[in-house]
Amino acid sequence: MAKTVRFHEYGGPEVLRVEDVPAGEPGPGEAMIRIEAVGLNRAEALFRSGVYIEQARSFPARLGAEAAGVIESLGEGVTGFHAGQAVSVIPMFSMNDYGVYAERAVVPAAALIARPASLDAVESAAVWMPYLTAYGALSQIGGIRPGDTAVITAASSSVGLAAIQIANRLGAVPIATTRTRSKKDALLKAGAAHVIVTDEEDLAAGILEHTDGRGAEFAFDAVAGPGVTDLAGAVARDGTLFLYGALSGQPTPYPGFDLGMPALNMRTFLVHEITRNPERLRVAVAFIGSGLRDGTFTPTIDRVFALGDIADAHRHMEQGAQFGKLVATVR
Ligand SMILES: NC(=O)c1ccc[n+]([C@@H]2O[C@H](COP(=O)([O-])OP(=O)(O)OC[C@H]3O[C@@H](n4cnc5c(N)ncnc54)[C@H](OP(=O)(O)O)[C@@H]3O)[C@@H](O)[C@H]2O)c1
Repeated sequence: MAKTVRFHEYGGPEVLRVEDVPAGEPGPGEAMIRIEAVGLNRAEALFRSGVYIEQARSFPARLGAEAAGVIESLGEGVTGFHAGQAVSVIPMFSMNDYGVYAERAVVPAAALIARPASLDAVESAAVWMPYLTAYGALSQIGGIRPGDTAVITAASSSVGLAAIQIANRLGAVPIATTRTRSKKDALLKAGAAHVIVTDEEDLAAGILEHTDGRGAEFAFDAVAGPGVTDLAGAVARDGTLFLYGALSGQPTPYPGFDLGMPALNMRTFLVHEITRNPERLRVAVAFIGSGLRDGTFTPTIDRVFALGDIADAHRHMEQGAQFGKLVATVR
């Protein structure tokens, strides 16, 4: 048996229950992991609420796509790993199939990455979703180049902070946005070249000012909703607007026609484009690993909760006051 977080109906954080359930056995291509830390993601709050990009197939439903732990046992046909090895679990599966909010969990072996010695369990649970998402979109799909500008919305999110570090590493110029002035200094310290406080400043005017009127080659947008029209208006000709989150919770227009049909590439992006593609994943892991080793990349942890306090952790996430990643540890 393993303590496992499940929910029996959609709802707020209060629907999360910690229950003793059979952990099962790893089948072919799977591994049993003793979980030490779980990386928390907005996707789980959305899945719990019934507004994620997929619905729960049945109840009770499990949660969690990112974790750090130790391999307990391996299923048939798994090579390259051994029992007792410290690993990270990266997001590449549906939460309808696996869930790592638990003391022990079966996961696909394809989702395992050996843990770099320089990272502890909390950091190892906080790295892969943010860095794979940001590097995958901006570099592997977008082809960002030195001198390009990237506007990073909701930049105090774990993905936003990773995107700032990655843009800097690639010689690009990160412009961060936040709703609140209180996060501005921390974003500058985190490497943003400029910060636009969207509750007080005009987003498009700010971007045009910081790019000498050219517009940004990339917008990496976690907010979506009606604000994309302004954002798209400040993307450079032939630039790309990635929609990778929907924090606004509002419908998102396609602004191309209102803006006079500019040469705008606008696309959604999901980290699975990287994690389910072995060659892209290999390249991304090598790039991120080198940044972790030389200290260029350091995951920003906002707060660590105990897994038993998972409802409080989700409440904290949904308040939106965090700066960086939330992690839950298993004790
Ligand atoms: N596509 C993918 O594969 C992928 C992968 C990972 C994450 N995501 C998405 O990336 C986003 C960030 O995820 P995360 O887990 O790193 O961080 P998060 O906890 O979802 O984001 C926290 C930050 O977002 C900002 N925010 C919250 N609500 C907002 C709203 N209604 N309007 C504007 N800004 C808001 C806040 O910053 P300020 O207060 O500073 O504005 C807050 O500090 C989420 O939308 C998530 O779903 C997508």
